[in-house]
Amino acid sequence: MTTATLDVLARVDELQLCPATAARIQCLDLENTSMDAIVEVVSTDPVLASRVLGIANTGIDGNGSSVVDLKQAVTRIGLRTTRELAWAISLHGVGAEHALGPSLQRHALRVATATRALSHHALGVTPGDAFVVGLLHDLGSQILLMAEPDEYGALLRQFGVDDPQLGPMEEFLFGIDHAQAAFQCMTDWKLPEHMCRAVDLHHVVRRQPGSRDDPGYALAALIALAEHLVALMEHGFGRDVMLCAVVRDPMNHVLRIPAAAIDHTIETFETEVSAMEEVLGSVAI
Ligand SMILES: [Fe+2]
Ligand SMILES: [Fe+2]
Repeated sequence: MTTATLDVLARVDELQLCPATAARIQCLDLENTSMDAIVEVVSTDPVLASRVLGIANTGIDGNGSSVVDLKQAVTRIGLRTTRELAWAISLHGVGAEHALGPSLQRHALRVATATRALSHHALGVTPGDAFVVGLLHDLGSQILLMAEPDEYGALLRQFGVDDPQLGPMEEFLFGIDHAQAAFQCMTDWKLPEHMCRAVDLHHVVRRQPGSRDDPGYALAALIALAEHLVALMEHGFGRDVMLCAVVRDPMNHVLRIPAAAIDHTIETFETEVSAMEEVLGSVAI
């Protein structure tokens, strides 16, 4: 590891980014952990607890009747949604003070939404992991922007966040690329190894053969496919063109997501993104 890399990583430590509640929930085995134990973790974070109650009552997963108890609220919205919300709230303000921060946040949320939607029909991935890796996939860019706002800001303006030339330039200038920086953080936060590896691989997966039997590789393929779909949407392509491009994407040869599921993702995507943006819009940065 070079001096420049160590310098950036040391600054990451200084930023004290550790999303403690989200990382604690992520490490719980949701299938075998009691609801009381999960509620106890949620209750240590007032912002998360209030958002969970808000959603249970009126938000994306509420059914209209009033809930005032946190346990009831977590039960109503589900453990997976609670976990996704914890991550989204934790990372909502990362890099927000920089002019490019909001566009990175928007990109992360859009890729996370696409990753989650596609995951339900993809071979080799666990849907519960999808939103979180989508949200974290370019965390390294958010971190580099905070650690080196002028230099990295200039680099990001020259190369888009998903430009294939960005990674080599990051490595050249900072001794680490954004995928490696996110991997380092996720490993420090003790997230599952396959999730860390998926983020580390999210660009190289297109050049590296692998198998969907490897959960890290399959999840990396899912991130890459979701990024492709989000990029097509941002370029304003028609639905048929997007569907054809995603179905034929080599990453989908790994994941085998049926065309009907991809079409449904395209159809519901903006509604799903708006629902999460509405939730996060009321969270103070
Ligand atoms: Fe990336
Ligand atoms: Fe990205």
